[in-house]
Amino acid sequence: MARIHHRTRGRGKRAKRALKTSVALTGARWAWNRRRRGAERSKQVSAVRRGARLLTWGAAGAVLGVGAAMMSEHGHPRRLRGKVVLITGGSRGLGLQLAREFGAQGALVVVCGRGRESLDHAVSELTERGVDAHGVVCDVTDPEQIAALLEEVDDRYGRLDVLVNSAGIMRVGPWEALTEEHFVQAMDVIFWGPLRLSRQALGRLRERQGTIVNITSIGAYLSVPHLTPYSCAKHAQAGLSEGLAAETAGTGVSVTTVAPGLMRTGSHRGVVFNGAPEREYAWFALLAGLPLLSVNAERAAHRIVGAVARGRSFLVLTPVARAGMAVHGLAPGLIQESMRLMGRLLPNTPESPEERSGSEAARGPLGRAVGVVATLNERAYEQLNQVPHTRQSRRAARSEG
Ligand SMILES: NC(=O)c1ccc[n+]([C@@H]2O[C@H](COP(=O)([O-])OP(=O)(O)OC[C@H]3O[C@@H](n4cnc5c(N)ncnc54)[C@H](OP(=O)(O)O)[C@@H]3O)[C@@H](O)[C@H]2O)c1
Repeated sequence: MARIHHRTRGRGKRAKRALKTSVALTGARWAWNRRRRGAERSKQVSAVRRGARLLTWGAAGAVLGVGAAMMSEHGHPRRLRGKVVLITGGSRGLGLQLAREFGAQGALVVVCGRGRESLDHAVSELTERGVDAHGVVCDVTDPEQIAALLEEVDDRYGRLDVLVNSAGIMRVGPWEALTEEHFVQAMDVIFWGPLRLSRQALGRLRERQGTIVNITSIGAYLSVPHLTPYSCAKHAQAGLSEGLAAETAGTGVSVTTVAPGLMRTGSHRGVVFNGAPEREYAWFALLAGLPLLSVNAERAAHRIVGAVARGRSFLVLTPVARAGMAVHGLAPGLIQESMRLMGRLLPNTPESPEERSGSEAARGPLGRAVGVVATLNERAYEQLNQVPHTRQSRRAARSEG
């Protein structure tokens, strides 16, 4: 009897979801047809009227988009207590903050990264907070290590409910100072890692009606100058995430695509800078740390975990990212011109291009000046396990002494 009731309820939910989807699609088609007919007629009207129409239909499209996004959410947030959540790149930065947030909701978290020390530090910190946490060393660019990671999750918990693809790398520099290998590295971590993990984990997630969360970026939708390898890889990751969301429809697996703008995760120190590293570091660290442009990692993680609990398919973080995506959708040429202007303002490639990490570049006079202004991101660097471990251990030893 209970099973029949459960099945009927399942069918009801599916029918409700199908109805919502068809309403959203009908609305979108109606807006598109109106917009197309409007465009044909607008050939005869003045440029001013054309602009006003574009804005009106743009606003209508935005309202429809928001409506459809709201409809795609589940009615009640899902409980995360007892769920097994695997977070790549969970040893530091946003991944670590996500582990804290999932853990606070009662989930059991498995974090992975390449660095043993950093991972151990993250796990002991999570455990101190009362989170059931486990760390596995895994380089997501290696398919064998991915298989071993999933086997370890099976052995330890016997199930997987949520896979969060958060591991990422970043390199900043002008096109002339970058090599093909830099693009390969970005694609390996940001695209091939999530692709292989998702393929290998899908069967397990299907059994649990689980979720894949892909942390993409605003860079997945707008190509920012001096971030080309990152942007290319993020575009590919976003394509994967949205494609997978469509492919898994009806299988019980859901996919949440997250497109964050700048977040204060303290990662600016670990970024690699090419060309004129100190000047590249200065503009990047300044933008990444400004309160109005960036969101703090706690808030970002809180919203991401909330979106997972509600079964949201898409989440854009920060108003600047939302505005950037909206303008790109309506007037891609305008965004392209802004990016060209930005490209002209950024540092030129010097005759002898150099390469330095953010931590090295931060020691120069420009880096120190930026550190005074971007204090919030410097604080995140300390709080999100970004300080290299030899330094952390030295500091702990000094304070104990
Ligand atoms: N911070 C931002 O403003 C921002 C904005 C938009 C999107 N995002 C995205 O958000 C995610 C997290 O960013 P974040 O700022 O927190 O970065 P982060 O602080 O640099 O952390 C990156 C994490 O990924 C791990 N990682 C890197 N390469 C890996 C590999 N090959 N295999 C396994 N783990 C690897 C790192 O650990 P190990 O080095 O020990 O491997 C670390 O745990 C990234 O996907 C990033 O692109 C960030």
